[in-house]
Amino acid sequence: MCHSHNSGPSRRSFTALLAAGVGTTALAACTPGSQVASPAAAPSPSGSQAATPTPAVATTTAVPAPAASEAPSSGAPPSKAPPSGALSQKYSLSDPASQWVIVNKHRPLTPLQFVPPDLVQPHVQLAVSGEAALLNSTTAAAAEKLFAGAASAGVTMTLASGYRSFRTQTATYNGYVDSRGQASADTASARPGFSEHQTGWAFDIGDGGGACSFQPCFAEQPAAVWAKANAFKYGFVVRYPWMLHEITGYYYEPWHLRFVGVEAATDMANRGIGTLEEYFGLEAAPSYL
Ligand code: DAL
Ligand code: ZN
Repeated sequence: MCHSHNSGPSRRSFTALLAAGVGTTALAACTPGSQVASPAAAPSPSGSQAATPTPAVATTTAVPAPAASEAPSSGAPPSKAPPSGALSQKYSLSDPASQWVIVNKHRPLTPLQFVPPDLVQPHVQLAVSGEAALLNSTTAAAAEKLFAGAASAGVTMTLASGYRSFRTQTATYNGYVDSRGQASADTASARPGFSEHQTGWAFDIGDGGGACSFQPCFAEQPAAVWAKANAFKYGFVVRYPWMLHEITGYYYEPWHLRFVGVEAATDMANRGIGTLEEYFGLEAAPSYL
C-alpha cells in the first residue's frame, strides 16, 4: 500500500500529471481502490516506495545511529539526521565533482555552468551518441559494472541519456516548457544549472526496445525492475522514486540512476531511505526557491 507519508498525490497532482501526458498506469498503484494492483500492472509502491522517509529506521545492526553532530558540510541547513557516522563527512555535498553532491531545486550547481573535467564514454550499450553518451570517469566505470551485472542476469540495458551540458539542458528544459507549460515541465525536467545530468554523476537507462522510454510504463520493463532491485550494489540509486516528488521535486523516474558509491547506496537500501535529501538530512526541495 502507499506509505502514509505519501498518502497519495493530491487531486491537483493527478491533474497535473494527466495534463502533462503521463499515463495512468504508474498512478494506479496509489490510487484508492487500486492498491492491490499487481506489480506487473503498475510500479510497485512496496519497494523503494515503501521506503520510510525517516532515515533513522535501520534494518541492519551494522549501521551506527545517526548523529546530528556528524552532518556533512553542505550549503543548505540539515533538516533531518545525517547518515551514519561511518559515512558522514566523507565527500562534499556542494562540490559538483563530489560523488555526494546534492543537486535539486534548492541546490543549483556551483558554478552554474560546471563541466566535469573527466568526461568519458563508458563501454556499454549506447542508445545515444555524442555528449549524451558521456559520464564522468567514476560513474562510467561503475556503469560498466552495472550494465555487465544486468547482462549476466539476462537484462538488456542501454545508456539513454548521460551528460548534458548547461546549454543542452537549456534546450531540453525549454522543449518541455514549450510542449507542456512551465509548471508541468518543472515536474519532469530540471532547469539549466539544476540537473544532475550536468554533473556526470547521473544517467538515464533504456531497455533497448524503446516502447516505454521515459514513460511511466518503463517502471515495468526488465531494465527498470532489475535496476530498482540491484543498482545499489554498483553504487547507484534511483534518484526520483515513486511518490517522493514532494521531497525530490520530480515525479517518478525509474530510468534515472545516480552514482553515490556502493557504501552509501547500500546503506540507503539497507535502511530503507528513498531520497538523497533524507539520507543527507537536507530539506525537501519540491519547488524552486
Ligand atoms: N529529469 C531530471 C530531473 C533532469 O532533468 O535532470
Ligand atoms: Zn535523468
